[in-house]
Amino acid sequence: MARERWATKIGLILALAGNAIGLGNFLRFPRQAAENGGGAFMIPYFVCLLVIGLPLVWVELSIGRLGGRHGRGHTAGMFEVLWSHPLSKYLGALGIFIPFVIGCYYLFVSSWCLAYSIFSLSGSYFGLGSLDAVSHFLAGYQGIERNDHFSSAAPAYGFFAVAFVLNVAILLGGIARGIERLALLAMPLLFVFAVILMIRVLTLDPPAGAGPDQTVLNGLGFVWNPDFGAIADPKVWLAAAGQIFFTLSVGWGILHTYASYIGPDDDVALTGLSTASLNEFAEVVLGGTIALTAAVVFFGVADAARIAGQGSFDLGFHAMPLALEQMPGGRVFGAMWFLLLFFAGITSSVAMLQPTVALLREDFGFARAPAVVVTALLVLAGSLCVIAFFAHGVMDQLDFWAGSFGLLAFGFLEIVVFTRLYGMTKGWEEINRGARMRVPRVFWYVIAWVMPLALAAILISWSATNLGPELSLAAVAPADRPYVVGARVALVAGLVACWLAVRAGSRRRAAREAAS
Ligand code: ALA
Repeated sequence: MARERWATKIGLILALAGNAIGLGNFLRFPRQAAENGGGAFMIPYFVCLLVIGLPLVWVELSIGRLGGRHGRGHTAGMFEVLWSHPLSKYLGALGIFIPFVIGCYYLFVSSWCLAYSIFSLSGSYFGLGSLDAVSHFLAGYQGIERNDHFSSAAPAYGFFAVAFVLNVAILLGGIARGIERLALLAMPLLFVFAVILMIRVLTLDPPAGAGPDQTVLNGLGFVWNPDFGAIADPKVWLAAAGQIFFTLSVGWGILHTYASYIGPDDDVALTGLSTASLNEFAEVVLGGTIALTAAVVFFGVADAARIAGQGSFDLGFHAMPLALEQMPGGRVFGAMWFLLLFFAGITSSVAMLQPTVALLREDFGFARAPAVVVTALLVLAGSLCVIAFFAHGVMDQLDFWAGSFGLLAFGFLEIVVFTRLYGMTKGWEEINRGARMRVPRVFWYVIAWVMPLALAAILISWSATNLGPELSLAAVAPADRPYVVGARVALVAGLVACWLAVRAGSRRRAAREAAS
């Protein structure tokens, strides 16, 4: 069976950009920047981008393309190509498991964006008038509480069903006719909407009775005014590294999968640079401007800081609706904001499920449709648990273990496998194979030495800071503890199941290869 391929170069670039540009760019980034020293955060952020993010994009794309040459579209198979040892597939399996787990909640959150785009057009949250009221609106929608706005979680399930079906339909279309077509449509729209919203926000007039700090300039200063004291704080460096992993989709296993559908000698160097550049433009310029500036203009610096500090969703789903309802043309701009988020979400969520589809197709010999259906049923089960137990912190558990710890751990493991077990000399050749732009030599040293050491240091210090408090359940309300423990048990069981599936798949593949 011939391997699927991206149909066009522009389609590949937009699909990779769609993979990377996600909710992380528009919701997670402004919050991280605001919480970790504003402009000063940007110094560790750009250092991490150059020393970890961009080189890791190159490494992952070249591992993926190498895997594709051997008919492997998931990291378990790719690691077998890089390191012929029985353990390799179990390490690589993390690049199937982690994005799948994140996909289970990411899909749910993207469905909120779809819902809110309709709520914007219909004006459902218009006139609520206070942060307290918009937060009850969201809690009602999420099913955390019943209130005047929502008497059940049925709308949340309904919008989730729509988002789910759209994801499945795109995956059923395959690489060129599904994911690539989505990217060709959604990414230009996302950029157009984001630029329109940025211009709208930058030309906002403060509301009547606004305080002197409620200006656009103060909004921009919120992200850009440097607090150099923050640079000495290791927490800020960890936050910057964590954001780079999340936003560039490195350490996930999903860039590898997309790269496996690149031609065997097609460039990954310039493609990686283009992907990272588009992502950074979307994150730093567009994501760094829209929500925070709107929040400062409508609520002032202190309240915007408080809202951003409460969580990524507070900025997007509390501050923005309230700002939008006061903005001339707010319904249309609101629909644009949430549709933009939905496009960002869906172009990333399909990427999170594709490694599982690739495992089922390549190792178990499933045709595309059954592979997608099985993946969809599995993710449906996971997502329904997230929705049903949302109020008990189940989503936060998945985000902590897969979306934070998992990314750092997998990033570290893959760089060890690539540079030490596969070998840096072969690795460097692989990165520059067919390159339209040779990667500067300095990155040889960065990838061979700086990255493994930096990633080890980040993983150790992140774990030292976060694992103890998390494992002790100190911050979890007693009533929620059974759910949190249940989520952890489910994660361990899921990982074991993934390992068993990868082992069975690898044996089938070996038997097939021996027979042919
Ligand atoms: N990289 C994607 C995001 O930023 C997954 O959300």
